[in-house]
Amino acid sequence: MANALQDGFGRTIDYLRLSVTDRCDFRCVYCMAEDMRFLPRQQILGLEELYRAARLFVGRGVKKIRLTGGEPLVRRDILGLCERIAALPGLRELVMTTNGAQLARLARPLAEAGVKRLNISLDSLDPARFRAITRTGELARVLDGIEAARAAGFERIKLNTVVMQGRNADEVLALVDYAVARGLDISFIEEMPLGEVGRSRGEAFCSSDEVRARIASRYALLDCAEQSGGPARYVRLPAHPASRIGFISPHSHTFCASCNRLRLTVEGRLLLCLGHEQSLDLRALLRRHPTDDRPLVDAIDRALLHKPQQHDFSASGEVQVLRFMNASGG
Ligand code: 5AD
Ligand code: SF4
Repeated sequence: MANALQDGFGRTIDYLRLSVTDRCDFRCVYCMAEDMRFLPRQQILGLEELYRAARLFVGRGVKKIRLTGGEPLVRRDILGLCERIAALPGLRELVMTTNGAQLARLARPLAEAGVKRLNISLDSLDPARFRAITRTGELARVLDGIEAARAAGFERIKLNTVVMQGRNADEVLALVDYAVARGLDISFIEEMPLGEVGRSRGEAFCSSDEVRARIASRYALLDCAEQSGGPARYVRLPAHPASRIGFISPHSHTFCASCNRLRLTVEGRLLLCLGHEQSLDLRALLRRHPTDDRPLVDAIDRALLHKPQQHDFSASGEVQVLRFMNASGG
C-alpha cells in the first residue's frame, strides 16, 4: 500500500496504542508509586486532540488502535471518543486495555460504541492478594466486570497477568483454569522496569520460562503459529482449544524485527519504542496547527525513520526509562 507508514527498517506500522489518561483508580505495585501525582489538565491531550491524532494515524495506514491509560474508563466521555474512533474509515479494529473495575457498568456500552476486543488485567484470584497488588482494587468488582464483558459480546477477551515471585507466581495454574473454563485468552507478562515505583523489581522477577514450566507441570502445551507482531508467544491446551495462553517477555529481542506499533502518550508524545526515550512532541504540533494536518503528517513520517531497531531493557530490573507505565500507553 503506497500510503502505509514505514519505518527506517522497512517495518510497516499499522498499530497505534493511544493513552487516553494517566489516571487510574488502582495503584498497581508494578505500575505506579503509592502517591502518584497526575498531570494537570492542560498537559494532556483533549478529546478532540485524541480524536484528531487517531484520524491522522488511520489516514496513514494504521489499522488497529488500542486505547490504554492509566485506566481508559476513568476518562470522561470515553464512550463518545470510542464511538468516533471506531467509525474512522480504514480502521479495522478498536480495542482497549482496562483494569476491569468499571466494566460491570460499561462493558455493554463499550461494545455498542464499537470496541471489538478487551484486555483485562487480572493478577490474582485471592481478594487479599489482589488488594495488595493493586493497592486499591476490589477483586469481586473486577470478576463481575469480566462476566459483564463476556455477556456483552466482544469478539475476544484476554486477561493480562504480571507475574511476580512472592505475590502471584503460585497462582499461574489457578489463573489458567479460570481463563480456560470461560473460553478466555490469558497472557502472563514479565515485569518491565518502567518508572521508579518505590521497590526493587529484580527480586520479584519471574521469567516466562518459569511460568511456562509451571503450566507444563499439569498440562500438555501446543505451540501456536500465530504471531501478534508483539512480544507474545502463544500456546494452547488440547482440551481447551478456545483459549490461547500467551507469554510476554519484554526482555527478549525476538519480536523487535516484526514490531508494528507506535505509542502516543497522554501528553501527546509519540514514542517510537517502549524501551527508548526518543519521541515526537505531537501535542505541540496539534496545538500549533489546529486546522492544517500536513505538518503533523510530515513530522510523523520523519519521526518514523528514527524508530529504533530494538529496545534495550536489561534483566537486572533497574530503571532505565524514567516514564511510568501509566503515562506510556501500556
Ligand atoms: N511491567 C509489565 N507490565 C506492566 N503493565 C503495567 N506496568 C507494567 C510493568 N511495569 C501492564 C499490565 C497491566 C497493563 C495495563 O499494563 O499488564 O495489566
Ligand atoms: Fe492502573 Fe493498569 Fe497501572 Fe494498575 S497497571 S495502576 S490498573 S494503569
